[in-house]
Amino acid sequence: MSQWSLIYEDFEPTKEKRREALCTLGNGYFATRGAAPEVDANDVHYPGTYLAGGYNRLVSRIAGRDVENEDLVNMPNWLPLTFRRVGGAWFDLQQVEVLAYRQELDLKQGVLLRNLRFKDAQGHVTRLASRCLVHMQQPHLAALETTLTAENWSGRIEIRTALDGRIINDGVARYRGLGNRHLEWLETRLLDAETLLLRVRTSQSHIEVVQAAATRLWANDQPLAGERQAREEPGYIGQLIALDIAEETPLVIEKIVSLHSSKDRATSECGLEAVESIARAGRFRDLLQSHVLAWGHLWGRFDMGLGMREPEPGLTTVLVLRLHIFHLLQTVSLHTMDLDAGVPARGLHGEAYRGHVFWDELFIFPFLSLRLPEITRALLMYRYRRLDEARAAARKAGYDGAMYPWQSGSDGREETQRLHLNPKSGRWISDKSNLQRHVNAAIAYNVWQYFQVTQDMEFLSFYGAVMILEVARFWASMATYNEELERYEILGVMGPDEYHDAYPDSERPGLDNNAYTNVMAVWVLCRALEVLDLLPRERRQELSETLALRQEELERWDDVSRRMRVVFHDDGIISQFEHYERLQEFDWDGYRKKYGDIQRLDRVLDAEDDTPNRYQVSKQADVLMLFYLFSSEELGDIFRRLDYPFEYDTIPKNIDYYLKRTSHGSTLSRVTHSWVLARSDREGSWRLFAEALMSDVEDIQDGTTPEGIHLGAMASTVDMMQRAYTGIEVRGGVLWLNPRLPRTIENLCLHVHYRDKSLTLTISGDLLTVEVAGVTPELIKIGFKNDIHELRHGQTKEFTL
Ligand code: BGC
Repeated sequence: MSQWSLIYEDFEPTKEKRREALCTLGNGYFATRGAAPEVDANDVHYPGTYLAGGYNRLVSRIAGRDVENEDLVNMPNWLPLTFRRVGGAWFDLQQVEVLAYRQELDLKQGVLLRNLRFKDAQGHVTRLASRCLVHMQQPHLAALETTLTAENWSGRIEIRTALDGRIINDGVARYRGLGNRHLEWLETRLLDAETLLLRVRTSQSHIEVVQAAATRLWANDQPLAGERQAREEPGYIGQLIALDIAEETPLVIEKIVSLHSSKDRATSECGLEAVESIARAGRFRDLLQSHVLAWGHLWGRFDMGLGMREPEPGLTTVLVLRLHIFHLLQTVSLHTMDLDAGVPARGLHGEAYRGHVFWDELFIFPFLSLRLPEITRALLMYRYRRLDEARAAARKAGYDGAMYPWQSGSDGREETQRLHLNPKSGRWISDKSNLQRHVNAAIAYNVWQYFQVTQDMEFLSFYGAVMILEVARFWASMATYNEELERYEILGVMGPDEYHDAYPDSERPGLDNNAYTNVMAVWVLCRALEVLDLLPRERRQELSETLALRQEELERWDDVSRRMRVVFHDDGIISQFEHYERLQEFDWDGYRKKYGDIQRLDRVLDAEDDTPNRYQVSKQADVLMLFYLFSSEELGDIFRRLDYPFEYDTIPKNIDYYLKRTSHGSTLSRVTHSWVLARSDREGSWRLFAEALMSDVEDIQDGTTPEGIHLGAMASTVDMMQRAYTGIEVRGGVLWLNPRLPRTIENLCLHVHYRDKSLTLTISGDLLTVEVAGVTPELIKIGFKNDIHELRHGQTKEFTL
């Protein structure tokens, strides 16, 4: 397998939806699943096109209740293109004899290629070669080029090209009981002999989307007109093009598509824009050239070099990492800077989690911030614009400050559904995951990390600081004082481990003193106090007045940040939450024997009428998240501030304890565990990393990838290379480096962008080389071992490991 291409050499109907997700093409503005152009949605295929921020709400009646859900809408399908010999059947891969099959996702060029050779029932052999792209430089354009070659026949054929808006959101089986018809048809029109136009609108959010498609034909580079016949019906416009095909004369069919929406900027009316941009688009080969150039620029910034010690059979590590970078950049790109869009946990690749935005940003931003921090800034602005909604949510729940939702969509209200279906038992279960208030800490953490890497004081002054301050306020108001213990507590929440949402047999939702939440709250309060000092005096004054920050309030923040409660077990283990140790030990071996795969233990237990709430089991890292986010120095400081012990063996003891109790029911889990083990257990860490790497390419959760990729896992596996193995940490204005490669990796080379400088880091053998580029004269401080070195642009320095 090439290091740049994902290649499939057979057609496997049962894996087709997974491949469609993995072969999605996108540019941050919109994305289209890699479905074959000739197919409709059915058991094998699921075409999908999603617009960043393209949400719509529907109310469904379930079990006597109205349930409202907001979904990322599956927009009209622009792909449809197929053919038949006149009098024969429309091309269907499952009805012909496939003589050769190859599908290739070329990551370097951002092109999906398909090469088929097949024989129909009458013995006609045909070759089909197609190339598809969603333009990375011109975000409103996509293009499909199909070349048909009749090998042993000639005759009349019909080509069918269309824009299909009769689309519902049907990509996730367990949502099928809920409303899924989001699109209203507004207009179909033939713009000229070759160009179709379709206009739809989402039913509630009233986003208009217009697509225009020009289909043109060539043989020997001469245009062919064909005999065209339009077909229109509500929500659909197509054309049949009849023409003669000659043996061994390739027929090239180009379908160029423009897509505009009423949410766009610099737009008068999206229909006009779609017409304009299709008229200006040019031919496939021109579009390909500028598209490949844009990808070349992105790879220049985002690629990494990796030398493995041993040759790898099958999918190589570097290929999968590139695939992950590719999908990340197709979901959020340079175009995101101009959009009001967050980063959906499952990309723009499917409908799982309804396209909502979670805390997964925490796993995604570090990679982006050290490469193209402008993208992180744009995504943080998505949160900033929803600050008022978060303030309203806090007030409604009886708190001060801002309380961001666990799941966020269009306007920042809580989108977590209150009921969800367990596909194993067929039962509706109440969902309390909105109690994961820790998402607020993640947002503050993300703002802070972005600032550390960029020193973007303008962002911090006008947007970032207020988010940190309002989240700090929320934590301070949520913390209650326990007189007896003389400690503050946070009660009734959920930590990242979603298997626990209440105490066994308790009616009261949530758990008390989740260690991760409490420590993160302390960290946010400390940063809030620090951020005020960092701001220019005038801005600090303005902000303090606007937010009516009083001295007593700051004193309370300080007090809470010193006396927050963290619960420990007798043997010094940090308790995931209060009384965790009283839960029953779980029979891991027994359940593994009985069920095999028990990653989703919650579903297994629910089907047995049981609940994980009764056991010491975790879906994913919870306490261990602390070791993922903070260095031992930082954690030591926090625990000292709280006057709790933080012994030298705290970290390994806790890792050992919780790792044994985790089922990795979230794809975020393995990579977090791999990260925390990276220095102490290199083999164990690499094993988990290798599994995390396969999360989507092998769909290790058995059925979730078809519904969308796992962007958090994708980004964090790449970030493992970038930060865990280089030991990058930004602390006190110094970029600390502390490389330690896994034994499987011989050398690693990557570029990072840090405070207006580009650094190339190369780790090979026992040498670390740092090369500094950039134009600004300021020196950059690099920390290595215990020394700080000042480097200027143009300088290269070697460090012996
Ligand atoms: C995980 C969450 C995550 C969400 C979206 C869930 O399965 O438990 O931590 O935010 O998926 O990726």
